[in-house]
Amino acid sequence: MVRVASSVKVGSAKLVLICISLLGFALIADFLWASSSYSSSLWNSQHSSSSPSNFILVTNNNNNNKNNKKNGKKRVLAAAYADLNGPQLNWEKMLTAPVPRLDGAAIQINHLLFVFAGYGTIDTVHSHVDIYNFNDNTWGGRFDMPKEMAHSHLGMVTDGRYIYVVTGQYGPQCRGPTAHTFVLDTVTKQWEDLPPLPVPRYAPATTLWRDRLHVMGGSKENRHTPGLEHWSLAVKDGKPLEKEWRSEIPIPRGGPHRACIVVDDRLYVIGGQEGDFMAKPGSPIFKCSRREEVVYTDVYMLDDEMKWKVLPPMPKPNSHIEFAWVVVNNSIVIVGGTTEKHPETKKMVLNGEVVQFNLNTLKWSVVGKLPYRVKTTLVGFWNGWLYFTSGQRDKSPDDPSPKKVIGEMWRTKLKLNNI
Ligand SMILES: *[C@@H]1O[C@H](CO)[C@@H](O)[C@H](O)[C@H]1NC(C)=O
Repeated sequence: MVRVASSVKVGSAKLVLICISLLGFALIADFLWASSSYSSSLWNSQHSSSSPSNFILVTNNNNNNKNNKKNGKKRVLAAAYADLNGPQLNWEKMLTAPVPRLDGAAIQINHLLFVFAGYGTIDTVHSHVDIYNFNDNTWGGRFDMPKEMAHSHLGMVTDGRYIYVVTGQYGPQCRGPTAHTFVLDTVTKQWEDLPPLPVPRYAPATTLWRDRLHVMGGSKENRHTPGLEHWSLAVKDGKPLEKEWRSEIPIPRGGPHRACIVVDDRLYVIGGQEGDFMAKPGSPIFKCSRREEVVYTDVYMLDDEMKWKVLPPMPKPNSHIEFAWVVVNNSIVIVGGTTEKHPETKKMVLNGEVVQFNLNTLKWSVVGKLPYRVKTTLVGFWNGWLYFTSGQRDKSPDDPSPKKVIGEMWRTKLKLNNI
């Protein structure tokens, strides 16, 4: 009995081992394939429509479809990639920024929008600041960033004078992040060092809350693996009050490209994704190659209790929105972004809506349509006008995948929904 039982066990263990090896082989094959075919699709988003899709997702999708059919249910695609209906808005085209930029950062202080860094092309990055003046609607005031400062995917927040600049990706293509952290005095234009993050992060959620700089989530050094860690540092008037970052309650889901906003003493972390492009293994230029990404509708909130609470989700998954928001009349307004990839073409899909999260009612609604779909856009609000500039726009009204990196500036009169 014992012998039989153990031989059965050995037999099934062997079977499991074989299955695991096959699965491993399939994953490695998919990985190798992805690194060759998806190279640089960050830029041109050229994925052939016959491309085999991600191993894990395809399996899930097929099963879902099969099950739906089997159960006689109508096949329901989540439509997480579809455009949302909303009012057409009157957009006015303003002066274009001195340079196009993607994955840069922006901070508004009164009538000035400070626009930082970003890719110019996939092989070049900016290391300077441009300023847009909402009073006379002009660009100007260019000045340099420190040489050691990251060029994209930064965490950034202001107290109204000082801008805190945390970690981010150093260099073009798909290089990894640096832990270097800085503070800018926007009055004197002087930069100072801050204690580096304990480890580098890529596009972490960053904000100021209760006199502490908070940094959480983002991706780890490889750009892809979500980090859950959350740190804070006491700061005052651009000076660190501590030598080291303190560990805080980890965020339930990690990953880059979220909006992180404090309103009325509550900290919100909205949208984002898990996974991102990675450097192709062995590539001397860290050439970008596409990896599996999952985009989320998540809304997390921290308050006095210091426990993460889950709030009503966004109308559809939305990522690349770290500087694409403003707070107006106790509503969070978010412009554009990216959503789930198209289920058939597997292409990245951009969002073309302005959405509103009313913090009085905790309800989401669509404020209106953008002139085109656009991601990682940089947003400001002044005198009733909603402004956006920069990012990467869609190919055409019929093709929501990313194409041109832009420097255009647009504005519309913001009218919030009363729900
Ligand atoms: C915000 O509220 C004020 C006061 O009620 C109102 O005048 C203004 O139009 C509102 N702003 C927007 C963008 O709805």
